[in-house]
Amino acid sequence: MSDPRRSAPHVARNAGPIANVLKTVLPARGLVLEVASGTGEHALHFAHAFPNLLWQPSDPEPAAQRSIDAWRAEAGLANLLPAVALDARAAEWPIAAVDAVLCINMIHISPWAATEGLLRGAARLLAPGAPLFLYGPFLQGGVETAPSNAAFDDSLRARDPEWGLRDLEAVAAAARGFGLDAVVAMPANNLSVVLRKL
Ligand SMILES: C[S@@+](CC[C@H](N)C(=O)[O-])C[C@H]1O[C@@H](n2cnc3c(N)ncnc32)[C@H](O)[C@@H]1O
Repeated sequence: MSDPRRSAPHVARNAGPIANVLKTVLPARGLVLEVASGTGEHALHFAHAFPNLLWQPSDPEPAAQRSIDAWRAEAGLANLLPAVALDARAAEWPIAAVDAVLCINMIHISPWAATEGLLRGAARLLAPGAPLFLYGPFLQGGVETAPSNAAFDDSLRARDPEWGLRDLEAVAAAARGFGLDAVVAMPANNLSVVLRKL
């Protein structure tokens, strides 16, 4: 049988810088839900980096769930839970309450309905003050779009007209029940965006 573990080269580059931001964002203890975990490598990295937090990875794709679970089995980390099937658009998520929600590199590689679902679902699960952490490339009013991000946007829209870089202002406006807490410039023209439940 082929190895179910998948690997995305960008994780080796961005997991460290993201973890440095998460240190200032996440609670000391509790349950963290990652939406759109993909390969599972971020969940693995963060479960190592934050041993006092319990990590719940998720993805709607069965192949992604298999990859996450294979990395998990190899690592044997007590604070990393098995993957759950979670489509952000679903009216109900398979988890009732969490202390933080993370979503890395999904918003631009999915239809806008996935972002709306993510914002609605996170609002259902989080208590006041708890963070929803987003990471990826965004468009920003008044900020010139980097040529690499403009080219990436073109290539995403060519693959699927419903995909593409989102306006940070549009995401913040759609995040009903959240306040925009922080926007942190990250390597390679990405942003970390911290929303907090009001
Ligand atoms: C570019 S990958 C990012 C994966 C991982 N977070 C990373 O940074 O390597 C996009 C992920 O979004 C997931 N995805 C797409 N639509 C989704 C939805 N509606 N709800 C949840 N996840 C979704 C895909 O299955 C895929 O794993």
